[in-house]
Amino acid sequence: MTESINVLGLSAYYHDSAACLVHNGNIIAAVQEERFTRIKHDNSFPISAINYCLTTATISAKEIDYVVFYEKPFLKFERLLETYLAFAPSGFRSFCESIPVWIRDKLFQKRGIINSLNKSVSQEDWSSKLLFFEHHLSHAASAFYPSPFERAAVLTLDAVGEWTTTSLAIGNGNQLKIEKEIDEKSLLKELFSDEKAETTTIDDLKEKSKKELEELLKIAVQNENYESAAKIRDEISNR
Ligand SMILES: [Fe+2]
Repeated sequence: MTESINVLGLSAYYHDSAACLVHNGNIIAAVQEERFTRIKHDNSFPISAINYCLTTATISAKEIDYVVFYEKPFLKFERLLETYLAFAPSGFRSFCESIPVWIRDKLFQKRGIINSLNKSVSQEDWSSKLLFFEHHLSHAASAFYPSPFERAAVLTLDAVGEWTTTSLAIGNGNQLKIEKEIDEKSLLKELFSDEKAETTTIDDLKEKSKKELEELLKIAVQNENYESAAKIRDEISNR
């Protein structure tokens, strides 16, 4: 007997929520929630999109083997937290406003997805079926698997995700592996290296506008170059 695998892919809570049903590696249905709600970029849980996928594939919720969410909420939460800490105490107000929302909406996303599936699709043991993949791996998979190539290099460039901003994956048959990635911190380091900050003299700083100095200060703090940060801070307070 041939094994039959049904995977429901989900995207939600950020922008353009969507669902996709993959049966034995073939896309049977894929649709955005906004097509049903008529709300542009609707980010709500994609109930209608899921039901459309199940109807098109003529399967019941019981026949879904895996539900896959497009990113890992814990990694994303870690990035948010570390970014705030790097810039503390600036941004404290926005930190206080964001964190309760993140704890409620993102950190407990697994529970939220399970509750939504139970409420709007069907009561199942969703927790044993629910998987989370990294944001850039999801992008790479969406490009590689439907492509006509047996082997391919896949480059993803995306401003947000968990930590990664750019990744290079190699796809081979049914395998896809991220080989290299650039995270948010190292990207900033590449663009504004310590060398550049260290060779910046007091005279150089005097020629900068206040806005440029504030930008340089952020970079120096990000690179943990506190000596340069102190110089820049002094220059800002002299203005
Ligand atoms: Fe993305």
